[in-house]
Parts: sequence; structure tokens; C-alpha cells
Amino acid sequence: MRLVFLGPPGAGKGTQAAMVSERLGVPQVSTGDILREAVRRKTELGNKAKTYMDAGDLVPDDIMLSLVEERLAEADCRKGFILDGFPRTLPQATALDEVLARAKQRIDGVVLIDVDDNEVVARLSRRRVCPKCKGLYNLDSEPPKVEGTCDKCGVPLITRSDDSEGTIRNRLKVYRNETLPLVEYYQAKGILARVPSEGGISKVFSVIMDKVSGMRQG
Ligand code: AP5
Repeated sequence: MRLVFLGPPGAGKGTQAAMVSERLGVPQVSTGDILREAVRRKTELGNKAKTYMDAGDLVPDDIMLSLVEERLAEADCRKGFILDGFPRTLPQATALDEVLARAKQRIDGVVLIDVDDNEVVARLSRRRVCPKCKGLYNLDSEPPKVEGTCDKCGVPLITRSDDSEGTIRNRLKVYRNETLPLVEYYQAKGILARVPSEGGISKVFSVIMDKVSGMRQG
């Protein structure tokens, strides 16, 4: 299965992509995680991306395209993948289609997880992340067993540098301007499934699995 997870910041793309990846046995390719790791290691990519990410702006398309093309060429993506956070602009979407077409592949389905702006701000200001395993927590809906500590790794949880209210509002604006046109793009191809991010993480997961099982593999 080759899937794209689309949706505003805080919709739950990362949470759900990790669960679906485990269920389907295909890798989760999170461009946000790849970029954050590059920033942490202070690589050339990380240094270029940091300013955009801290402001809640998009990293330029050419950088993102070569990063994703390289990642999808790795052996674990041969049988499928879940793209979490990519594409985010129309040029990224058309370039992805071209890359896949060259390998006689295509996107089988796009899951659009939807949530309103106030819920986004509430969720992201309460999100905590494990810097080691990238595990996601929420002080309200998914608290760690021991306060401030990752359940799996035992290391202190952190707050993402782009999870301040001003940056979250900018990320929402960028989503509306740059990413929302992709909804129409994938709808026109007949491969878009909408899932409201309501009713808790397990409920959303079961709705997504229902939709994914109805998608045609190409
Ligand atoms: P990225 O990391 O992709 O951030 P994002 O799209 O803003 O999405 P988030 O990771 O904030 O949210 P999410 O939808 O994954 O929600 P989560 O599951 O964590 O990108 C970061 C930056 O990198 C971008 O701003 C940009 O600069 C750059 N970038 C990345 N990709 C790029 C690209 N393609 N092009 C250009 N630039 C790019 O959940 C959020 C919280 O809610 C958690 O605490 C979770 O526990 C909780 N939660 C989840 N689901 C539920 C639920 N159903 N009910 C209650 N709480 C829930």
C-alpha cells in the first residue's frame, strides 16, 4: 500500500501513521521527523531547514523533493509506505506522481484527517515528544505513565520548538494557503478519504483502517 496522510498540524497524522504502519507492515515516512533529526545532528539539510521550521513555514520544495525521492528509493519502501507530512504543496504532489510513475507505481489512497483550529492549538500546546523513539504524548489525551518521561525509553519528554501558539497559528495559515489545494487534487483522482479526528485515537484508527481496506492497490 502506498498511502499519503494529509491534514492540518495536530490532526493526528503522526499518531495514526505510526499505528497504520505497524498494522500494514510498511514504513512510516515522516518528513517532519527526518528534518528534525537533521536539525538535531546539525547536518547541512538541518541547518537549511531550521529557520523555516522554527517559523512554521515550509521548507523549499526542491529540498523536500530530493529528500523524499532518496528515502523512497530505500529497500524498505519497495512494498509500500505511508507518507506523513508529504506532499504539502501542489508542486510536491505532481513531482511525487512523476517519481512514482517512473517506477510504474502510484499513490493508492490519501487519508485526510480533519480537525478544527481551536482543537489544534489545544492539542499542540499539550503535546510532548520523545526525542529518542519519536513517541507522541498528550498531557490531556495520552499522558505518559510517569510524568515527563517516555514510557518506552525512560528519557525526558520534550516540547517541539514549533509548538508555541504564534507558530501554531502560522502553521495553520500555511496549511490553508499551501496544502489545502491538495484536497481537490486528490479528490479529482478519486483517491481521497476524509476522516474526522474526533472520538479519540482508537476510534480514528478504526475509521482509517476501514477506509484503507476499501482502497485499491495498484
Ligand atoms: P510536521 O512534523 O509534519 O508537522 P505538522 O504537519 O505541523 O504536523 P504535526 O506533527 O504537528 O501534527 P500531527 O498531525 O502529526 O499530529 P500528532 O499525531 O503529533 O512538520 C514540521 C515542519 O517541518 C513543518 O512546519 C515544515 O517546516 C517542515 N516540513 C515537514 N514536511 C514538509 C514538507 N513536505 N514540505 C515543506 N516543509 C515540510 O498529534 C498531535 C497531538 O494530538 C499529540 O499530542 C497527540 O497525542 C494528540 N492526538 C492525536 N490524535 C488525537 C485524537 N484523535 N484525539 C485527541 N488527541 C489526539
